[in-house]
Amino acid sequence: MAGNAVKVKIDNVKKSFSGVKGETIALNGVSMDIAENEFVCVIGPSGCGKSTLLNLIAGLKEPTSGKIYLDGREITAPGPERGVVFQQYALFPWLTVRKNVEFGLKLKGMSKSEMGAVADKYLRMVELQDFADNFPKELSGGMKQRVAIARAYAMNPEILLMDEPFGALDAQTRAQLQEDLLETWEKEQKTCFFITHDVEEAILLAQTVVIMSARPGRIKESVAIDIPYPRNQATKMMPEFIELKNYIWGKVYKEYLEVKK
Ligand SMILES: Nc1ncnc2c1ncn2[C@@H]1O[C@H](COP(=O)(O)OP(=O)(O)O)[C@@H](O)[C@H]1O
Ligand SMILES: [Mg+2]
Repeated sequence: MAGNAVKVKIDNVKKSFSGVKGETIALNGVSMDIAENEFVCVIGPSGCGKSTLLNLIAGLKEPTSGKIYLDGREITAPGPERGVVFQQYALFPWLTVRKNVEFGLKLKGMSKSEMGAVADKYLRMVELQDFADNFPKELSGGMKQRVAIARAYAMNPEILLMDEPFGALDAQTRAQLQEDLLETWEKEQKTCFFITHDVEEAILLAQTVVIMSARPGRIKESVAIDIPYPRNQATKMMPEFIELKNYIWGKVYKEYLEVKK
């Protein structure tokens, strides 16, 4: 987003893994900036290194070479200013919905009443206030993912890192959660780095769609999505949306073909 300060700077990052079959270069020569308040979606074929990139920003993995900075400081470990939501909900099954949301707040040293207020706020945001005392196993996939999102928001991170968070959900639930996420971003403009392999989802949500190439993952192109917010499912019918969809799909499809070769 032009004008805003750089929140995350990815500087010439390479990440390789060594395994039984030798070295896999997951990412090579990746550089990009994420601006403060920006909503970025990353799209690319399976195995192109999207999750690896997210894990590097999260501090869960280290680059083989190159560096990543958050507010100008090198990222070397996970931190509370980065909230992560994975495709698989990763809830604690032995804790209620409310306790799952409160878990990180407790570690932050919040008082019981503060924790309660924060959990209430974000459970309301994801419309799960009536399920606060249920256990994860009593919830549908979509509801579990809403708990994971509420938990990430409750920590009040400066940036949300979301790895195909809606990938395992049915189309209707997915559409609902896209709208919830849009509404929240439109209100709070929390910097968001969101991975998806769904072109429509990427365009619907993002200000910038970053297209990655087939492995080794590189940034192929950054596309500005100049469609005004607020957006909702109807936005998908706009001619600008359809034009962008055709354009990005063409680029992504080429990379899918590379993977198949
Ligand atoms: N821990 C690991 N050990 C070895 N190889 C890995 C590891 N994590 C990812 N890879 C490899 O790196 C490449 C990129 O993986 P990933 O980042 O998960 O891709 P994506 O999320 O785009 O599908 C793949 O070839 C994958 O097999
Ligand atoms: Mg992945």
